[in-house]
Amino acid sequence: MFDDVPLLPPDPILGLLSRFRADPRTDKIDLGVGVYQDEEGRTPVMRAVQEAESRLLLTQTTKTYQGIAGDPEFNERMLAMLLGPEHPALRDGRVRGVQTPGGCGALRIGAEVIRRARPAARVWVSSPTWANHMPLIGGSGLELVEYPYYDPVTRGVDFDAMMSALANVPAGDVVLLHGCCHNPTGADLDLAQWRELTALTLSTGFTPYIDTAYQGLADGVEEDVAGLRHMMAAVPECVLAASCSKNFGIYRERAGGVYFLARNTERADAVLSNAMAAARQIYSMPPAHGAAVVSGILGDAALRADWLQELGEVRARINAMRELLATRLAGNAAGTDFGFVRRQKGMFSFLGITPAQVTRLREEFGVYMLDSTRINVAGITPRNIEPLAAALHAVLAGSRA
Ligand SMILES: Cc1ncc(COP(=O)(O)O)c(C=O)c1O
Repeated sequence: MFDDVPLLPPDPILGLLSRFRADPRTDKIDLGVGVYQDEEGRTPVMRAVQEAESRLLLTQTTKTYQGIAGDPEFNERMLAMLLGPEHPALRDGRVRGVQTPGGCGALRIGAEVIRRARPAARVWVSSPTWANHMPLIGGSGLELVEYPYYDPVTRGVDFDAMMSALANVPAGDVVLLHGCCHNPTGADLDLAQWRELTALTLSTGFTPYIDTAYQGLADGVEEDVAGLRHMMAAVPECVLAASCSKNFGIYRERAGGVYFLARNTERADAVLSNAMAAARQIYSMPPAHGAAVVSGILGDAALRADWLQELGEVRARINAMRELLATRLAGNAAGTDFGFVRRQKGMFSFLGITPAQVTRLREEFGVYMLDSTRINVAGITPRNIEPLAAALHAVLAGSRA
């Protein structure tokens, strides 16, 4: 059976993490893996999560199976958080969905439903996009194609090129969008651009597929979803994949959901039945714990307020580190303007340095980032900013340490 099974290379991000862990230097800096870290370099359990978990432990009376769609209350509260409780799509009863194992599960079930609905649909993804979009969505059998997105010169979205490319996407194809905190570039659409894109969607007839994994990490829980809320109020159909991993800090608990906006309630029911059939074929039912924690927080005014408070602290720390890095890199010998780090959103930015500089940072200075030059800004702390800035200045100057 297994004699001819090839040994596959490790996942590039997880491979980098193993190299980081194996590096004996005590002053090494990890800017690779995409999890939030506090000032001490830890990924903490949020206060509200800890409280919701202890309540759950005391009140839970059974571990029997949940339904395929997960906990209906979780789905309801997630939708209220994502779209706002008064959203017209919710009022019209046109949204249905299922709780999933994280945002990855959401993305895969979304793709499975699209393939069931229209096997020939192509999924257009931004260039670049999160590397895992390819296997998660492509693994369902759908074909992926790229549209231009990031402009390495302006370090922002090349919106004109994006709009020109998407104007030619045929009705029936799908366009994957990042809700906020674009991974890996940190370059987001503003609300005016979301409006223009919505108008284009309506005129061309492609179906938006929105991946939102960072609500609350850019400008605020409400602000970060203003674009997708606008779009979902206007378009007839849409798929929304959401992750609770980052904004609740519950990565390993695997909580998320995928929600489908359909033309009417009857179509929405049909789509839901297909999402449930797809989930049944893959994993049957989602894990309960993480979703119960999220639901417990969103459904309790005091816990919710505390979660929002701590999420605000997380956001402020990320933005403070963006400011600090941009400031400390000013005046570098290469003359590169790193002001874009200040403008970008969420945990990630592309530094845009050369592959040789990435290697030198890793080998000589113990600074780890992806080969694409994506850095996790949350890996920066007040303690490591000085050695980090010194290392970056050295490689930008081309000088030896
Ligand atoms: C853009 C994007 N989408 C979705 C996810 C899914 O995350 P998870 O499956 O851990 O909830 C991530 C996680 O890194 C992400 O960056």
